[in-house]
Amino acid sequence: MLARARPEVPPFTLPGRSVRLRTASHDRFWWHRLESTDYVPELYSNLSHREWAVLEGWFTQTGRRGRIAEINVPAMSLVTALVSGNGIRRVVQLGHYYGYSALLLGFTLRAMGARPGLFTIDIDPAACEFTRRWLEHARLCDHVVVREGDSADPLSPDAAAVLGGLPELILVDSSHSYAHTLAELNLWTPRLPVGGLVLLHDASEFATAFDPSAEGGVRRAIAEWLPAHPEMAGLTLNGHVAPGADGNALVYKDACGLGVLQRVR
Ligand SMILES: C[S@@+](CC[C@H](N)C(=O)[O-])C[C@H]1O[C@@H](n2cnc3c(N)ncnc32)[C@H](O)[C@@H]1O
Repeated sequence: MLARARPEVPPFTLPGRSVRLRTASHDRFWWHRLESTDYVPELYSNLSHREWAVLEGWFTQTGRRGRIAEINVPAMSLVTALVSGNGIRRVVQLGHYYGYSALLLGFTLRAMGARPGLFTIDIDPAACEFTRRWLEHARLCDHVVVREGDSADPLSPDAAAVLGGLPELILVDSSHSYAHTLAELNLWTPRLPVGGLVLLHDASEFATAFDPSAEGGVRRAIAEWLPAHPEMAGLTLNGHVAPGADGNALVYKDACGLGVLQRVR
């Protein structure tokens, strides 16, 4: 009997997708090694074959170049579900690094028909150039606009003009420095409509170490800024989490924490 020829299957179409990342040793894949996460998160299972192939290629290339500082599965799952579940069509991101969040938000916004749906700023020219190239490769240029610049610069281009209206969601993941985060909050929150949201990554006690000025980082900025701004309500997921915490014991698995602010008046 003739053996049936196996079709040529590129690795990215094999079942399992990110499950193999459970055995990858690099720290960037920490989420996949947790006790309760032996499955493909919806963040990845919702992608088309081509989108997943793009993301796999992106992991490979950024890994080779040592450009690894992306946000993670818990935070990005929350962001994309928030956008997709609520028809949020105007998103601003402060800090895109080499493009992980821009690609994943781009896939979500493309599925929603938002063009452009994301306006994203980063101060690093190499990061902007790399992100643009991968957005082109992913055919997301109609959905994501990349700008190079300081995310706290009042002269930075007007996102509302690009997006065709006030941003509904602002994702802050940039310098992590106390003073710069205050400047970002002061610059961007007046541009939100009532109900608009700000998510700030790295808002935990643990993540205060990411502040290059060692002044208390995002956590201190939120703690001091929020009480002085009654037009905004907020809470911080995992704000209390300190260095040495056991990730398996956390309900929201990102020890870096996430500030969630909403304009209420
Ligand atoms: C943690 S990375 C962002 C990761 C990204 N959100 C992702 O998921 O892939 C922080 C980024 O903030 C950028 N950044 C730092 N200071 C900045 C500033 N003043 N203005 C704009 N971007 C800044 C850095 O260049 C870096 O690319």
